[in-house]
Amino acid sequence: MTYTNILTETRGKVGLIQLNRPQAMNAFNLAMLTEVFDALEAFDKNESVGAIVVTGNEKAFAAGADIKEMADQSYVEMFTSGHVEIWDRIRNIKKPVIAAVSGYALGGGCEFAISCDMIIASESAKFGQPEITIGVIPGAGGTQRLARVLGKYLTMEMVINNRTLSASEALQFGLANRVVPVEGYLDSAIAFAEEIASRAPIAVRMAKDAVNAAFETTLTEGLKVEKRNFYPLFATEDQKEGMKAFVEKRKADWKGK
Ligand code: CAA
Repeated sequence: MTYTNILTETRGKVGLIQLNRPQAMNAFNLAMLTEVFDALEAFDKNESVGAIVVTGNEKAFAAGADIKEMADQSYVEMFTSGHVEIWDRIRNIKKPVIAAVSGYALGGGCEFAISCDMIIASESAKFGQPEITIGVIPGAGGTQRLARVLGKYLTMEMVINNRTLSASEALQFGLANRVVPVEGYLDSAIAFAEEIASRAPIAVRMAKDAVNAAFETTLTEGLKVEKRNFYPLFATEDQKEGMKAFVEKRKADWKGK
């Protein structure tokens, strides 16, 4: 597939999507958003890909939704175009998606990063929801996803008073898996993703699904989802291989079956 606002490539078993609107700090216009979700879905279907990394550039992961595109839109135009519903497409991706964040992750940029399954932040990463400064609020999940990770008070401050988080604060508050030097941040994220991509593929997807259930349901329902995802793994060749390899003291050879 040919894209105009993003770059894609595979590195080993990792599918890489790079936001490529540097002239606009990688702000998400509808065209780029559509391409990102198309690319995510294409990698999700590609059997040789085990994990997906989404990144921007050193200066900006993404500075939000494209304000210039939205500025003159009416309520009816925004509502009927489903402007923010498109973001839900990320929820259907079964493989792990890792955000490699350097520089600004603001507004929709922050919301995209926190919609991913894991976040590798460079030392320059800056997370924030500045929508209040332009007279609106987050619309792509920021109020809900941040509150689930950071709790009420810090989320309130970010959303109502434009508090930003540095990379080290993001790590401290559980909004990043690790912080790495700016130089080589993408290689670090790809190495992290490569490790994940080398694991038993069906189990990885079941695990992602089960963890995500924790944010959707009660403990009782979540535990049911976990059991529902645990038992079927005994119908996979990889479970037999994984346990046999342990007993035989060798590395497992995963087939994704
Ligand atoms: N939308 C459209 N264009 C943007 C943009 C955005 N979100 N962010 C930056 N740009 C553009 C700028 O307009 C500028 O373009 P021109 O050269 O044509 O003027 C170019 O990118 C470079 O930006 P700056 O000159 O502002 O660069 P800077 O280094 O001085 O500042 C910044 C960087 C702090 C990220 C600043 O650009 C900024 O504050 N951007 C807006 C952040 C924001 O408010 N994001 C929330 C958007 S709303 C949203 O995301 C809604 C939602 O929930 C879905």
